[in-house]
Amino acid sequence: MRIIILSICVIICFLGCKESEKETEPVKEDIVYDMYQPSEMANLMNEMYAQNLKIKEDILKGNVPLEFPLDFLKIHSAEMSEFKSRNETFQSFSKLFIENEKEIFNTESLIPLEERFNNTINLCISCHQTECTGPIPRIQKLLIK
Ligand code: HEC
Repeated sequence: MRIIILSICVIICFLGCKESEKETEPVKEDIVYDMYQPSEMANLMNEMYAQNLKIKEDILKGNVPLEFPLDFLKIHSAEMSEFKSRNETFQSFSKLFIENEKEIFNTESLIPLEERFNNTINLCISCHQTECTGPIPRIQKLLIK
């Protein structure tokens, strides 16, 4: 009799342990969620992408873009992801980029509009070649062929 009671206890304990093990497993998986938080600079870049896509569509429709998006000036101050730094190369590229982007809106320029636009997009690409090559294929799609 004692042996039977003992075996039942052992079995209950064993099943109990197995149950609790099963319960904890899915919890572990739930904890693995996406921690990615885009930096201020990454958000600005996505904004610049969208704005330039609109400018491209305008140019293709034959409209002249008139207003330089002042938000773009944030490129000089926006906070970047931790592993990126605002070194000299970055600063000279951002200055050149802003000068070229402004030229798109210079209605007195003698350079054809499409060329001014493509020069700007090529500067996006040049800066990206120095430190952030991932988005280059996407940026290349902005070029007017
Ligand atoms: C002066 C250098 C420079 C210029 C010019 C530049 N970029 Fe960037 N870009 C960066 C850096 C650095 C990052 C990474 C930012 C971060 O992660 O903090 C980035 C990130 C991006 C991203 C990814 C954003 C994300 O969600 O992670 C896109 C898209 C992008 N840029 C598009 C553009 C476009 C379009 C232009 C031109 C209109 C442009 N960039 C001009 C340096 C530049």
